[in-house]
Parts: sequence; C-alpha cells; structure tokens
Amino acid sequence: MRTALLPRDGRSDGSPTTWSCRWETALAPREHDALAALLARSYATTAFARGRSWAGARPELRVLGHRDGELVAHAAVIRRFLRAPDEDTSVLVGDVGLVAVHPGRQGGGLGGALMRSVASTLDRLGLPFGFLTCDPEVRAFYERCGWTPLLEHPVRSIRVDQDLEDHRRHGMLLPVARPATEWPAGRVERNGQEI
Ligand SMILES: CC(C)(COP(=O)(O)OP(=O)(O)OC[C@H]1O[C@@H](n2cnc3c(N)ncnc32)[C@H](O)[C@@H]1OP(=O)(O)O)[C@@H](O)C(=O)NCCC(=O)NCCS
Repeated sequence: MRTALLPRDGRSDGSPTTWSCRWETALAPREHDALAALLARSYATTAFARGRSWAGARPELRVLGHRDGELVAHAAVIRRFLRAPDEDTSVLVGDVGLVAVHPGRQGGGLGGALMRSVASTLDRLGLPFGFLTCDPEVRAFYERCGWTPLLEHPVRSIRVDQDLEDHRRHGMLLPVARPATEWPAGRVERNGQEI
C-alpha cells in the first residue's frame, strides 16, 4: 500500500532546505515546541499554547522544512471526506492547513518549495485531491503553487474557534490522482474543524 512509504525523511530538493514528512504520533514534545514557536510567528493573530502546535483540528501529518537544523517551513495534512450536498456525495481529500514560512525567510521561494513537498506527500498518500481554505489575500500564493480557487463552490466549514463559517474563506483545489473535472458540483461541507 502506498501509504506505507511515508514518511520519507531527510530529502533535499537541491536547496539548503531539507524536507521531511512526519506522522503526528512520531513528534516529540520538543518538536511541538519548535512548531508552536514557528506558527506563533507566522500566524500572529492565532493563539498557540506552549507545546501545542495546532489550533483547530489536530493534524495527521506534518511536512517540515529545516535549514541548518532550524525549522523554517511547515504545513499540516489530515485526510478526510468533504460532503458535496448538491450531488449527495462525499469526496476524499488531503486537507491542508497551517501553511507557514518563518517570517525572516518569506519571499525567497520557500513557500513554493513547501507546497511542492505538500503535493508530493498527497501524491504518495494516493489521494485524489488536495483541499484547503484560505483568505482572499493569500489566494494568489496558492494559485502560483498550482492550486485552483473553488469560487463556484461555497464552503461551509467549522472554524478553528468552532464557530460555523459560510463565506469569505473559500476553498482551493489541487488535483492529485484525479482530474479537477471530477470534483463534484455545488457546495462543499467540511464537517470537522479546519486545521
Ligand atoms: C504565504 C506564505 C507561506 C508564502 O511563503 P513565501 O516563502 O513568502 O512564498 P514564496 O516566496 O515561495 O512565493 C511563491 C510565489 O507566491 C507569491 N506570494 C507569496 N506570498 C503571497 C501572498 N501573500 N499573496 C500573493 N502572492 C504571494 C510570490 O510572489 C511568489 O510568486 P512568484 O512565483 O511569481 O515569484 C508565507 O508568506 C507565510 O507563511 N505567511 C504567513 C502565514 C500564512 O498566511 N499562511 C497561509 C494561510 S492560508
């Protein structure tokens, strides 16, 4: 089964950054501290308790970028089914969140490399699609990374603060094992907390 290949740690993409993929249960407390510190710097308005490196749903997998032993980039993944009520169906996605590059390292291509590593992780998991929700201000970043905005697919989602969200943050899609044409029409429901 392809998931048995994960994680494949210590890969270098030719840059000084080493990319790794870690299951949540493999992370040591000090690694959560390093993650929480990075996320607190990258997400100034989100509260991360010490040692707690997530804010909403707890991730299943972490994609990590290190330079000279320092954590400089992170994205989290959880596999889940999204509901497509207009087609009365569900679709399996790798739901991606907590995408972050160290503030001192932004603007130099690390975010793009991070999202390539995320795409490779979703592929190795054998998932049909990648999915994430974002604010309109960062949509262009994800588009540069090959993701497509789901503007015709309103998303209803449980936010990190556990409230229900009906608009503003919209979905973004990455076709992985299946083409975008197979994405179901209409609304999308994420019946779980966002990462
Ligand atoms: C968003 C983030 C991950 C981007 O990382 P980065 O290392 O600066 O990104 P890169 O330098 O690899 O940029 C890749 C491309 O996206 C563009 N881009 C980067 N951030 C962007 C933004 N906020 N809005 C629009 N375009 C952006 C870059 O201009 C670049 O385009 P190019 O290929 O034409 O040169 C980083 O700014 C970050 O951690 N922000 C804080 C946390 C956050 O907002 N995360 C996303 C939450 S949904």
